[in-house]
Amino acid sequence: MEKSPQASERHHSTLHSSNIPPLIPKSYNPKTKHNNLSFNYSPKHSIIILLICLTIFLLFQIPSLEYPPEIKSSIVKKDDESTTTAEEKLRHAVTFLPLKDLRYSSTALQGHTWFMSSMYDTHDEGDVQYQKFPSNESKGRVLCIKGHDTHDGSWNYYALAWPNALPHNATLMKGVTFVSYNHYNYDNIWHGLSAVFPFVAWHMKNGCKLPSRWVLYHWGELRAKMSLWLSLVLQATFDAPVNIELFEGIEDENPVCFEEAVVMRHNEGGMSRQRRMETYDLIRCKARMFCNVSVDRKADEIGMTLLMRTGARSFKNDAAVIDIFKTECDNFKNCDLFVAYSNNLTFCEQVELMSATDILVSPHGAQLTNMFLMDRNSSIMEFFPKGWLKLAGVGQYVYQWIASWSGMKHQGAYRDPNGEPCPYPEDDRRCMSIFKGGKIGHNDTYFREWARNVLNEVQTSKIEVATTNKGPTTSGCACTL
Ligand SMILES: *[C@@H]1O[C@H](CO)[C@@H](O)[C@H](O)[C@H]1NC(C)=O
Ligand SMILES: *[C@@H]1O[C@H](CO)[C@@H](O)[C@H](O)[C@H]1NC(C)=O
Ligand SMILES: *[C@@H]1O[C@H](CO)[C@@H](O)[C@H](O)[C@H]1NC(C)=O
Ligand SMILES: *[C@@H]1O[C@H](CO)[C@@H](O)[C@H](O)[C@H]1NC(C)=O
Ligand SMILES: *[C@@H]1O[C@H](CO)[C@@H](O)[C@H](O)[C@H]1NC(C)=O
Ligand SMILES: *[C@@H]1O[C@H](CO)[C@@H](O)[C@H](O)[C@H]1NC(C)=O
Repeated sequence: MEKSPQASERHHSTLHSSNIPPLIPKSYNPKTKHNNLSFNYSPKHSIIILLICLTIFLLFQIPSLEYPPEIKSSIVKKDDESTTTAEEKLRHAVTFLPLKDLRYSSTALQGHTWFMSSMYDTHDEGDVQYQKFPSNESKGRVLCIKGHDTHDGSWNYYALAWPNALPHNATLMKGVTFVSYNHYNYDNIWHGLSAVFPFVAWHMKNGCKLPSRWVLYHWGELRAKMSLWLSLVLQATFDAPVNIELFEGIEDENPVCFEEAVVMRHNEGGMSRQRRMETYDLIRCKARMFCNVSVDRKADEIGMTLLMRTGARSFKNDAAVIDIFKTECDNFKNCDLFVAYSNNLTFCEQVELMSATDILVSPHGAQLTNMFLMDRNSSIMEFFPKGWLKLAGVGQYVYQWIASWSGMKHQGAYRDPNGEPCPYPEDDRRCMSIFKGGKIGHNDTYFREWARNVLNEVQTSKIEVATTNKGPTTSGCACTL
């Protein structure tokens, strides 16, 4: 236990008062006056004693005459002291807790999650779940973080502090800091986008406020990088390159506090479809603006794009698949077929390609995240290799979700019935490692029929939109400053 300054002060003053010499000398005993007859009592003596008493009295009176002003100043001083003492106490009361709470490791994503687990989220109906510091909810306290561990999130800490009583040796970072929690990783464009997406929604809802920096966490561990695609999405959306905070030059044991911080740990969870669509609308609009994409397409033009993969989940026979979709597209007036490999397109090439696409034809994979860059109401045709239905878990549905959230039409999935044989029963989990890297074959009849149906539907709705003239508007983006 540390001794509080108040306690030591009190101790000091007690010592002081006990040091005051007694006014009556110890040697003086009134009784001796009567008993000791040898004491030579005289008027001269009494005058001297009287004078001494008067001098002593006066000596005591002089400082006490100045006492009132001194009382005043000492009261002020005491007030100052108690304020600084209270601040000092608050400073010491800042309690750091581990960013990753191991008590919730089995329910890491539920409720308050295991990230900053003592904190509640703010959640307005249909909107993002977030934490804002300082805020009424935080009673005006700001967020402080300590430690930059990249391997174990339970070695990094968070705390709340009042701005006038930040913990000792704290660095205050100005502006708005976005603190992002990602359960997966920032290199995968789907998982990365899911984590940063709610910040875009918050930005729209809060006067288009821009972040000064990002602090990226995965399981409470600090992350330094995100995929180039994601950093460009954010650069386009927030009109500035992404500034990822790494706390360089700040000692591990020294805290960093943020003037303003927004924390997200639930991705787009809690947002209504409407809010999600508005948010995707903004990112799409800003990305097109960033890439100087002009959207002056003819009303009845149909763009069909084959976004191909190499390696896992690529088509076994690219040429045959291209040929099928080429001939089907050619059967429609004003249909253009584009073929691209996602791995050799720049970000802006992807934005431009998607802006001209009404039907995206692509195997299951992260490249499908690009779909929200198409105009609203565009179509997606997805392809899976053998074995994914039973074994791949809910992850296989993410592109149906993003289609719904961004206002697209997921036109179903083709699931290849043929593929590598698995030596275990088909629904044995061990088969997934074989199926995971599988390639996708083609069924000529099925592909043609499916393509024809989707093309027909798109053509019909294009004509409808053209006649009622309610096509995508080309006015500015929601958050153009
Ligand atoms: C915070 O509380 C004050 C006083 O109760 C209120 O005026 C203000 O609008 C609140 N701010 C927010 C963001 O809710
Ligand atoms: C603040 O930093 C100084 C210098 O690094 C150090 O001596 C001191 O102990 C620190 N104070 C606290 C409360 O950590
Ligand atoms: C878009 O156009 C502006 C101005 O013409 C230019 O400065 C910028 O580099 C262009 N951006 C891209 C991605 O081509
Ligand atoms: C794109 O990638 C594919 C497959 O990796 C390759 O065959 C093709 O030449 C590349 N195209 C360009 C323009 O680099
Ligand atoms: C999208 O399609 C729906 C019906 O399928 C239609 O009501 C809506 O207006 C369309 N939106 C746009 C932007 O074309
Ligand atoms: C190809 O698709 C058609 C139409 O769905 C189906 O009848 C046929 O059995 C499929 N062929 C193979 C080899 O799977």
